[in-house]
Amino acid sequence: MPADMRAASKPIELRVDLKERSYPIYIGRDILGDGTCLAPYIPGNQVFIVTNETVGPLYLQTLTNALSIVLEPGCQIDEWVIPDGEIHKTLDTYRAVIDALIASRHDRSTTIIALGGGVVGDIAGFVAATYQRGVNFIQIPTTLLAQVDSSVGGKTGVNHTQGKNLIGSFYQPSCVLADIGVLDTLPEREYLAGLAEVIKYGVIADSEFFSWLEDSLAGLRAKLSEVTAEAILRCCRIKASVVARDERETGLRAILNFGHTFGHALEKITRYETYLHGEAVAIGMVLAMQLSRLSLGTSEADVQRLSRLLTNAGLPVKLPEGLDLAEFLNTMSLDKKVHRGCMRFVLVERLGRAQVSDEVDPEAVERVLLSSGLSTHD
Ligand SMILES: NC(=O)c1ccc[n+]([C@@H]2O[C@H](COP(=O)([O-])OP(=O)(O)OC[C@H]3O[C@@H](n4cnc5c(N)ncnc54)[C@H](O)[C@@H]3O)[C@@H](O)[C@H]2O)c1
Repeated sequence: MPADMRAASKPIELRVDLKERSYPIYIGRDILGDGTCLAPYIPGNQVFIVTNETVGPLYLQTLTNALSIVLEPGCQIDEWVIPDGEIHKTLDTYRAVIDALIASRHDRSTTIIALGGGVVGDIAGFVAATYQRGVNFIQIPTTLLAQVDSSVGGKTGVNHTQGKNLIGSFYQPSCVLADIGVLDTLPEREYLAGLAEVIKYGVIADSEFFSWLEDSLAGLRAKLSEVTAEAILRCCRIKASVVARDERETGLRAILNFGHTFGHALEKITRYETYLHGEAVAIGMVLAMQLSRLSLGTSEADVQRLSRLLTNAGLPVKLPEGLDLAEFLNTMSLDKKVHRGCMRFVLVERLGRAQVSDEVDPEAVERVLLSSGLSTHD
């Protein structure tokens, strides 16, 4: 049955507390077809929806139907469909969206809505941040990763040929709507990659959530509504609390990058062809946990629990064979996370408690990589 024909569940509301930039996150099943959550966050009479060629055919009609019921008659609703894929997260795609906004005469009172995964959200958010010096923005994330991570917290941007997310800005949405019903059409591999980020929240901030995930994994993998909604809510609560304390990543917010220093290097070295981001982060988290063991004396039991949960979630936990140590170290040292010449790692003292460190012994990093099977080629 199409989503707009089913009765929507009453959404759960969570607030991201950022003073005058505070906003709600609505989480529920089949809430996309009910525009009542969105209507209060659309002040003008123009709406511009950005989606992509995969998500558009699935959900654009549901959204535009819902909006046309709740908005004033005569409200202008336009849409722009971008090509699918990270390779299109570029200034060219950004410019095409801006051109379309200008061509259809959207003014400063317009509302831009991102309907899609993290790629659509990041591009549309950057457009909203910069079009006419900033216009109203709503996020409707449609991947698990986007629902628990990229749609919350206000990071927007596009890639440059020299690196990911090198151009962008912090720009908060006025509302986020996470409909768990749309996850039904998400490819299984994408869903599992999102689970890696879900697990990350337990590791860095909430050991009780980590235990809950161990107990609830079967329900999560089966996408049971209550279990999925609870997981998304708890992740967003953690992200909202971290972002509220450090909106622009001057300190604490960096703990959200747990596993990413290793993970980004792995993605780059395998030319973004082998792993989805969440898969590379899963392997990166295990390496970061082993590094925590060497640097902080984290227990082997915690390392094993993380590795087991990721494996049970259908995620990879080991580096592939044949990677070169020197190349891996060099790639890590070029990452954005290098801070004043030092590689930055997020370490975990114990499950639920993370810290950022710029003082990790490079020998410990090498030992972790060597014991994970990387080789030295003379
Ligand atoms: N802004 C942030 O804070 C932040 C945080 C993490 C990641 N990101 C960014 O997010 C991006 C990755 O996001 P992603 O994992 O959502 O990838 P994505 O946006 O590429 O989506 C993954 C795939 O799923 C498809 N898809 C999306 N929703 C669907 C649905 N409901 N049904 C069927 N198919 C669907 C997409 O078309 C795409 O093919 C990266 O560019 C990354 O840099 C941003």
